[in-house]
Amino acid sequence: MLKKWLQESNYTVVFTGAGMSTESGLPDFRSSNGMWKKKDPSKIASTDALNHNVEEFIEFYRERVIGVKEYQPHRGHYILAEWEQKGLLQSIITQNVDGFHHAAGSKQVAELHGTLQKLHCQRCGKQFDSSEYLHGDYYCKCGGVLRPSIILFGESLPEEAFHLALEESERAELFIVLGSSLTVTPANQFPLIAKENGAKLVIVNQEPTPFDHYSDLVIHDKKIGELLQELEL
Ligand code: APR
Repeated sequence: MLKKWLQESNYTVVFTGAGMSTESGLPDFRSSNGMWKKKDPSKIASTDALNHNVEEFIEFYRERVIGVKEYQPHRGHYILAEWEQKGLLQSIITQNVDGFHHAAGSKQVAELHGTLQKLHCQRCGKQFDSSEYLHGDYYCKCGGVLRPSIILFGESLPEEAFHLALEESERAELFIVLGSSLTVTPANQFPLIAKENGAKLVIVNQEPTPFDHYSDLVIHDKKIGELLQELEL
């Protein structure tokens, strides 16, 4: 059914979460061995942690930067980029900060939570590649701390990505969620906005989500990579 919907849809939007990158080797956040099962996000992934616990903050994000530099997009990321080239997919809205959709060749990507591929100075705003963390450079020449260019708990989403995601969700005829627990607002509102604007909503996730009952199709029993390869469009 999903293959038929994809072929018939004139405007398809894919919404990805951390489950899109677990098959690349990166952990997600809330499944059984997810990052937030081991660490409290409010104590490590927040502006509070950046301001009052900077050593632990840098150590945690240095590990995550190593991850996104060492691991690669998997076949599923490349399939989504191919669908875009064939006109089968118009855009991707992602909560992920690994940069893997861009790396796999996708062009229309709204990175709601920013990217771990970049750092910026907390004081003067100067931008750096996140490889600075790998060289042990954690401070700007101005004395400010270098922080990842991601959205921390307590910060608002980047305006441009938010508005692109809103527009795309309103235009979607088919909205496919891949690998998200849909528990973090406001990102989890986009599937609802798409549905309310007449889109068919598909949720592909190994665990139930709070929006399953609202969707037209739910797939819990297949890994994302396997499903995308089976669709072979
Ligand atoms: N195939 C299908 N589903 C998968 C796969 C897979 N290969 N791997 C993991 N999943 C599912 C998990 O079962 C889980 O329900 O992906 C979901 C990922 O959910 P979360 O770990 O909550 O990640 P996400 O929804 O992206 O989190 C949203 O929370 O901490 C913040 O900023 C962070 O962007 C993140 C946001």
